[in-house]
Amino acid sequence: MVKTIAIDGPSASGKSSVSKGVAAELGFTYVDSGALYRGVTWQAIRKGIDTTDADAVLNMMHDAEWDFFVQEGASIFSIDGDVPVQELREKAVRESVANVASIPEVRKFVVESLQSLANFGSLVMEGRDIGMVVFPDSPYKFYLDADPEERAKRRYRELVDAGESEKAEEVMESLKKRDKIDSTRKADPLVVPLGAQVIDSTSMTLEEVVQTVVDAVKG
Ligand code: DC
Repeated sequence: MVKTIAIDGPSASGKSSVSKGVAAELGFTYVDSGALYRGVTWQAIRKGIDTTDADAVLNMMHDAEWDFFVQEGASIFSIDGDVPVQELREKAVRESVANVASIPEVRKFVVESLQSLANFGSLVMEGRDIGMVVFPDSPYKFYLDADPEERAKRRYRELVDAGESEKAEEVMESLKKRDKIDSTRKADPLVVPLGAQVIDSTSMTLEEVVQTVVDAVKG
């Protein structure tokens, strides 16, 4: 039977590392749902479309050819034949993605695409609305959280490792801004899904969090 593990939580709560770890441990496919919102944003930017113009974004999104496949245990996608990976992390994408993700029809397209990935087999999917909207019937729902200071520290480290020259205070500010947009937007705001196990990872190691999820799924 196909299992869908939903891992939700705010920015930099450790969702990606935990989801990848759980997927590797269980042999499931890892899915980064945020990458799709970033993909729509990246395609809009490279086509010169104003990301605040919802109609233009939607036309572009429907015109583009999207393909989904699994590579090395993770789901990836191509847009008009190109597979963006590093590009999805660019600053321009990071700054516009929360707005693009608040367009209801973008969400509908992404949610349906994510649901169709269950055809590939069992999944570990990380995001903001996976347990509430994408796989509401899944018995395997987790909500990862951590103190904002700890999340800002993690995000800062990630950016520095990726060679970006951000200031720690700016990372904290941008995280707060993203949290606010994600939790107050009208379409599918970030909430703890019904029936989800909440894990506060502030003082846990990555391995401990992965093990907690794996034990809960196996148990
Ligand atoms: O997790 P991330 O930083 O890659 O997410 C990028 C943006 O997409 C962020 O603004 C939240 C949004 N998002 C969402 O609304 N729903 C999801 N399931 C995943 C991401």
